[in-house]
Amino acid sequence: MIMNTLRLQLRFLVPLLLALVATAYLSLPLMDRLTLKWFSRDLNLRDELVTNSLSDSIADALRDNNLERLGASFDRVSRDERLVAIGLCTLANDFILRSKAFPIDVSCAHARELAGHVYPQVDIAGGPVHVGVHSINGPDGPMANLALLHDLSFAGARALLGGGGIPQAPDGASGELAPLAADLRARLRDLEDEFRRSLGPEREWTPERLRSLLHTQLRGDEVIVVSNREPYIHDYDSGHIVVRRPASGLVTAVEPVVQACSGTWIAHGSGAADRDVIDASDRIRVPPGHEAYTLRRIWLSADEEEGYYYGFANEGLWPLCHVAHVRPVFREADWQRYREVNARFADAVVNEARSEDPVVLVQDYHFALLPALISARLPRATIITFWHIPWPNPESFGICPWRREILQGMLGSTILGFHTRFHCKNFIETVDRYLEARIEHEHSVISYKSDQTLVESYPISIAWPSDQTVAAWPSPALCRERVFARLGLGVETRLAIGVDRFDYTKGILERLNAVERLLEKRPEWRGRCVFVQIAAPSRSSLEEYRNFQQRIEAQSVRINERFQSPGYRPIVLIAQHHEHAALTELYRAADVCLVTSLHDGMNLVCKEFVAARDDERGVLILSRFAGAAREMTEALIVNPYHVEESADALHQALVMPEAEQRERMASLRMTVREYNVYRWAGRMLADASRTRLRQRIEARVERHRGQA
Ligand code: G6P
Repeated sequence: MIMNTLRLQLRFLVPLLLALVATAYLSLPLMDRLTLKWFSRDLNLRDELVTNSLSDSIADALRDNNLERLGASFDRVSRDERLVAIGLCTLANDFILRSKAFPIDVSCAHARELAGHVYPQVDIAGGPVHVGVHSINGPDGPMANLALLHDLSFAGARALLGGGGIPQAPDGASGELAPLAADLRARLRDLEDEFRRSLGPEREWTPERLRSLLHTQLRGDEVIVVSNREPYIHDYDSGHIVVRRPASGLVTAVEPVVQACSGTWIAHGSGAADRDVIDASDRIRVPPGHEAYTLRRIWLSADEEEGYYYGFANEGLWPLCHVAHVRPVFREADWQRYREVNARFADAVVNEARSEDPVVLVQDYHFALLPALISARLPRATIITFWHIPWPNPESFGICPWRREILQGMLGSTILGFHTRFHCKNFIETVDRYLEARIEHEHSVISYKSDQTLVESYPISIAWPSDQTVAAWPSPALCRERVFARLGLGVETRLAIGVDRFDYTKGILERLNAVERLLEKRPEWRGRCVFVQIAAPSRSSLEEYRNFQQRIEAQSVRINERFQSPGYRPIVLIAQHHEHAALTELYRAADVCLVTSLHDGMNLVCKEFVAARDDERGVLILSRFAGAAREMTEALIVNPYHVEESADALHQALVMPEAEQRERMASLRMTVREYNVYRWAGRMLADASRTRLRQRIEARVERHRGQA
């Protein structure tokens, strides 16, 4: 994958590199010897990639004496890679094969003589070329030599050279080359970095690594995040202002990234005290007490919130994308508010931007129209949209009356991210069905009008807790003691937990049914197993959500009535928002954690549970319909619609030997630690930096062409 990416980059970089090989000679005083070495090294690196990619087929063809197919692949590679020509020579310098364009007057021996110098240029193929000769090895050593001829007669190079030919002597620096050379230097560093990474196992992603990516590859470019939910909500509590963290997977994941980037986060100011703590420009530095970035609040009227947030986003798009058997509701008035609020956030992005080309991270289904609106006003911005919820199949999505507008809006993104390949595939198929767009399936790129969007999967995650954080946590035994005392549980009780927003997609009802079934079929757990469900009230203005909460409450009461005994209630439902520290305590106290979503983009509760268990105990039961199930395969994976299977998994979890718990948990912890949120952001930003560089170079090359 990395090699492929590298090849792709080289494909567009090479003409520029070649131009600069020649130019560098012209402007030696400006471009130091190190830079010259980089040119040469990069051409060699490129040669190695071509040689590596061809060497197996060459070795096979030589062994089987079948050169026919090889000729075609030589022509194809030389076309694709913008090489002039490729020739295959015996060790005795006779041609075995050469691509059509291989110059007739260059022999194998001649090519070998020309190879290996910094500037081996000869005037053939209508202009100068760079020659590289590389060995093809079989099991018994070298079998043949591959000669690769790179074109140096690139139009831009000639223009830069002032019209033709490779100059014979250094001739002073051309001022206009300086920025181009600086770009190239920076890019070569990136290439080296990636090449190094392609050779070894990936280093762990940390905040420092993310910061360094921003400072090197994105050269400190401005980062603006847009989401509906704000990371800090100021409220009043008994006349005092308090700060709350919302229950939102999005906020959990994005917050550490913004802290590392020190950017600006634009979000809806939803707290009662929000207006009382901001400056004159509606901004506040956060996190409170450890200020690392700016939160810019946007105010919405009750009407706007009703139509855009509750209506179109949460009664329309949310059920549409989750396909959790709740009918989406689409109202014209909601759609109008959704459009207006997206336009207001676009204004805010433009106002906040200090440069013409910020990196804008658009979050979630509240802002499907925002990417195109930003791109129209800041055409040089890099817009990374991340869709935190699933994307349905084209048929399901097709019921949205404004499906084309939604897709067009999203295709204003430079990069569009989903949690899984499956959601990317659904999105691409949806575009294919409803828009006239060009789709390059191989590269996952959609071209629509003049925009190109890379559709890629970036599994979101959490920030892995630092050693310092873990050291400050109370021990699992102490957590258990405290939680058990609070809930009045006997020491022998086995504790299963669920932590969610009160949302019908989370499978809370199915979870209760599984507990009931367990107690029914395995009476030995009656009186001994307690299930605690933390459910943070969510979107309670919506009837669907209120009804759902009532159903859960009624179901809990019914099950408790059925199985309770003096001092024992099998289900404890706590409909309250909990802060992170309280959740960590609960995670560390539990024997089992149940995540049984009916459909979930990723789900971060399961990752937080695993991160909290440095004692490597506890069992995770995970729905196969949560994106996380693709990574966290050592969990007990269940179909939440299958009550029997879920009840059996609960029993299996409760009796799982400690050694097995440890084995599964250790492996899960390794996965979550490696696939952490810095990797999520790092991969997206690295893709963004490549795109930005490509655009910059293309623009400059075009400019130089225009001047020629
Ligand atoms: C999901 C969505 C987020 C949202 C969160 C909480 O995780 O993907 O965008 O913030 O739910 O929902 P709320 O409506 O309270 O923001």
